[in-house]
Amino acid sequence: MADEESKDWILMVTAKSPTNIAVIKYWGKRDESLILPINDSISVTLDPDHLCTTTTVAVSPSFRSDRMWLNGKEISLAGGRYQNCLREIRSRASCFEDEKKGISIRKEDWENLHLHIASYNNFPTAAGLASSAAGFACLVFALGNLMCVKEDLGAISAIARQGSGSACRSLYGGFVKWNTGYDVSGRDSIAMQLASESHWDDLVIIIAVVSSRQKETSSTAGMRESVETSTLLQYRFKEVVPKRILQMEEAIRNKDFTTFARLTCADSNQFHAVCLDTCPPIFYMNDTSHRIINYMEKWNQLEGTPQVAYTFDAGPNAVLIARNRKTAEALLQRLLFYFPPPGAELTSYVLGDV
Ligand code: ADP
Ligand code: DP6
Ligand code: CO
Repeated sequence: MADEESKDWILMVTAKSPTNIAVIKYWGKRDESLILPINDSISVTLDPDHLCTTTTVAVSPSFRSDRMWLNGKEISLAGGRYQNCLREIRSRASCFEDEKKGISIRKEDWENLHLHIASYNNFPTAAGLASSAAGFACLVFALGNLMCVKEDLGAISAIARQGSGSACRSLYGGFVKWNTGYDVSGRDSIAMQLASESHWDDLVIIIAVVSSRQKETSSTAGMRESVETSTLLQYRFKEVVPKRILQMEEAIRNKDFTTFARLTCADSNQFHAVCLDTCPPIFYMNDTSHRIINYMEKWNQLEGTPQVAYTFDAGPNAVLIARNRKTAEALLQRLLFYFPPPGAELTSYVLGDV
């Protein structure tokens, strides 16, 4: 460890992570504390320049405790999820040397050094746009860099998973699959890239922010209630998802938009049906969300082949995936007409709070 005279040093790492949106949804855990899912899921990672988290992690011998600020406000790190991520990363830390600055941290020193963490989401937090995914992926990635962790991305994804399940998929770009895994330790419940960002670059994703308000039921609480009460969820994870995962992998491989759109829309609708089948029912979508679905269905029917896929996470905000740029432009024009917004941009489009 650096000696007494150089106690004022501070070491910092900043990382940026994008959010990801599931096209085959994760909903339900078989292990609450390790965050092990009941089914595989597949997502698409958004462009990091749009919806993303930026996190700075700092370590200094002058810090008295671990502290974290989220969007400028201090939050408690007491929850199991933050503690689990910190513990897992600390246990894999390596030594750090910077002779010029006189900093020398031995592997075992990391246990006693405290962290200060500042994180910002450039999009609504806890509103169904996967802030927990970008947030925990970014936190774990930044900490891994700071503490010189030498694990591969798969092992890092298993740590991010312990912060928020969907976070494991945000460590990769493009299309990503989170494997349920078999091991009780969760070692094999990791994310892997199915196809890179460039594989299917005709697709354009438009996020329609219907409401940026914080949702009433967090994803964690919602899926716990569904596991306890929904019979549809039992059918979904045993009978439906395994087949859809195989079909979706094939659709992505072949860039088959018709199948991709059919599966994406069907899976979003079944996930929200599970929410309704939960007791008491959970309503993540609102009237505007329903109007958007209706509109997209009609448009796709009129065209004969699907032009746009829609999917809604645990919130009212729509994620619209257009077949290509031309379709995306037509879609934006129509959205602007039917849902006049206070402001608009191509990939992050505001429909106005309802
Ligand atoms: P969302 O749909 O936005 O993912 P969730 O209910 O799944 O909503 O998760 C929201 C929670 O995720 C927040 O209350 C907070 O605990 C955590 N979270 C969000 N952003 C970050 C971040 N940047 N860093 C760490 N944790 C975050
Ligand atoms: C509907 O990953 O936010 O977005 O693991 O409890 O933190 P926890 O839940 P979270 O759930 C995401 C649910 C979803 C679908 C998905 O992203 O696959
Ligand atoms: Co979440």
